[in-house]
Parts: sequence; structure tokens; C-alpha cells
Amino acid sequence: KLHPVILSGGSGTRLWPLSREQYPKQLLALIGDETMLQQTALRLAGFSGRLPVSEQPLVVCNEEYRFITAEQMRAAGCPTNHILLEPVGRNTAPALTLAALTVRRDSDDGVLLVMPADHVIRDREAFHRAVDLGIEAALAGAMVTFGIVPERAETGYGYIRVGDEASPGIHAVSSFVEKPDAETAAEYVASGAYLWNSGLFMVKAGVWLKALAHFNPEMLAACESALESAGRDADFVRVGREAFQACPSDSIDYAVMEKLAATPELGIVPQVVPMSVGWSDVGAWDALWTLADKDDDGNSGRGDVMFEGTTGSLVHATSRMVVCLGVEGLVIVETPDAVMVARKDQTQDVKKIVARLKSDS
Ligand code: GDD
Ligand code: MG
Repeated sequence: KLHPVILSGGSGTRLWPLSREQYPKQLLALIGDETMLQQTALRLAGFSGRLPVSEQPLVVCNEEYRFITAEQMRAAGCPTNHILLEPVGRNTAPALTLAALTVRRDSDDGVLLVMPADHVIRDREAFHRAVDLGIEAALAGAMVTFGIVPERAETGYGYIRVGDEASPGIHAVSSFVEKPDAETAAEYVASGAYLWNSGLFMVKAGVWLKALAHFNPEMLAACESALESAGRDADFVRVGREAFQACPSDSIDYAVMEKLAATPELGIVPQVVPMSVGWSDVGAWDALWTLADKDDDGNSGRGDVMFEGTTGSLVHATSRMVVCLGVEGLVIVETPDAVMVARKDQTQDVKKIVARLKSDS
């Protein structure tokens, strides 16, 4: 079976003031009526590929968000009794490991499709085709990534150097570099030899656990013991606090992906399915403006919003009316306790404000 694994543990501070510690990005409806978590849960609806999709997606999130997460899954028509609750965040590698250990109870060969809960994919059919290709590679024992043609020298992404074609639509990964510095990222983009890592992965449960046993046995042991000491209540699996707190923190990318390409003797080949699916990780407000439906003047409004003589702007109002008169290229986000007015090309700097707010409090 194909087991969707939804990673829903991040906070997405670059969409402040809408995303907050109490209300992270994946739980918000930023585009369309569904939240990003719900869109992720629905992403495989209608999939008819070489494996049937499990009716019980695994969602891994912080225990603080258990009720809203369960409620959003139910409301989207994707209820699940596999919500794994982390007492603390330990980044994505332990989150995936908890899911892999859960799936392995039934079968080593269960294929995991790891999906970040806070991404947008516009072309669902093209995505299904990419997933179907990925299944072939994963069943053969590969660690599969999905690559996106890079648009800029983004330093927040992983870069995949594309190797030879292994089978139609599937390539070897000759190296994987997570979050390079700006100069290196620019070189990679200019070379045309690299793809962005989309952050989706596909791998058999047993293959992931074998890779982790090799690269970070301590993490594997901590996750095993966290599940052994887990408690079940309703649809939730509360992993053991003490064991999980002791787990080393690392991402899938650093803990395993970067190392795999350099360790052929392990026998787990990293591969990449290049895909063109309208992918975005909605990293900041300007990305949201790019994705949003806009009127003839390039404006996008959510909530009680009026535009007059305004162009290229995004307004998100949650509790009051917002009127824009004769302005250009602004992002305005209104919430009950904070209002942000920014030039669209400076919205990346929101993280500086969030950092300042944190250090002040
Ligand atoms: N359950 C759980 N627990 N989920 C987590 C945790 C955690 O501790 N930390 C992060 N996540 C979730 C986030 O909510 C997000 O959906 C996903 O895992 C990826 O984490 P990010 O923190 O957003 O990673 P990133 O954006 O820095 O980098 C990853 O994504 C890029 C593409 O957007 C990497 O895979 C990069 O290589 C990739 O290019
Ligand atoms: Mg991210």
C-alpha cells in the first residue's frame, strides 16, 4: 500500500502576523477554502496508480495541535486514527521515523509518501503521475525525491544534482546539498544541472529504517523507545515524552539525504522524479500573492477588502474592513492584535520582526 505521511510540525513564521505559534501556517486557509493541511490530505484523492492508497493517512504533529488537526482532517473528509503526537519538535527525520515504525508493524514494504503539510501543488493530475513513477522506484528499494526546476538562487532549499536516467522519468541523484550558501546556490542554478528538492519523499518503511540505522542509530533507538512507551487515546498516539525528548533533532535532508549519495555501499540509491506540478512552499507573503487569484489590476483580497486605484497588492483582512486607495505593490495583513503593511518585495524580512518580537518577550 501507499501510506501518506503528513508532516505538520512547523510554525511558518514568515507568514506573520497570520501564522503564529498558536496558529501555524498549515492550519490556515491561505488559498481557497481549505487549510493547507486539508489540501495536503486531499492531494491524493482520485489517485489510481500502481498501489492503492491507505485510507488512514499518518499525520505527525505536535500534541498541542491535536484537536484542531483531527477536526480539520475530519472536516476535509479524511478522518484518520493515525495521528502521531510529538511532545516536542525534533525536526523531520524523527517524525518520519515514527511513521515508518508504525507502518512497518504491518509490512516492511509499505511505501511512505512523505508530504509537508504547508505546501501548494496546483496541478493534481501531474502530481499523481509523478507519484506513480516514484512508486516504481520506491518499490525497487530507492529513496525517492521529487525535483523542481529552480527559479532563483534560494538558500532555504535542498539542491539535487541530477544524474543518469535510471528508467523513464526517474534519475539518479549524484549529490544532494541542503541549504547551500547564496554563492553556491547561484552557481547551482546557473549550471542547469540541479533541481530544487520539493521536500516530498517516497520510500519503503523498511528502507528508511535501514538508512537511519546506518546514519543515526541513536535517533532510531530513541524513536523506537518513544513508540514503545506511547499511549493511545482515541485517534491519537502520544509518543513517550521522555524518550522523544532525548531524541537527537535533525532533518531528513541532513540526517540521510545528503549522505546517501556518498554511501553507495549501503545499497540504497537516492533517485529523483523531476516534476512540474505548480509547486510552492508558500515561503512568504510575496509567494502567496503570486499564487493567489487576482483581479485585472493584480490585486488579491481576502476578507472585507476594498481596492480603488490600487495595483499589484495582496490584502488579508480577518476582523476589520481594509480599504486601499491609490497604492501599489503592498501586502497588508490585518488581524485583531497586529497589522502589517509591507512592500511586496520586502515580505521576506518579516522573519526579522518575528525574531525581534521573540527577543523582546
Ligand atoms: N511533525 C513534524 N515535526 N513536522 C515537522 C517538524 C517536526 O519537528 N519540523 C518541520 N516539520 C514539517 C513542517 O511543517 C514542514 O511541513 C515540513 O516538515 C518541512 O519542514 P521545514 O522546516 O519547512 O523544512 P524546510 O522548508 O526548511 O526544508 C525542506 O523543504 C524544502 C522545500 O520547501 C527540505 O526538505 C528542503 O530540502 C526543501 O527544499
Ligand atoms: Mg518549509
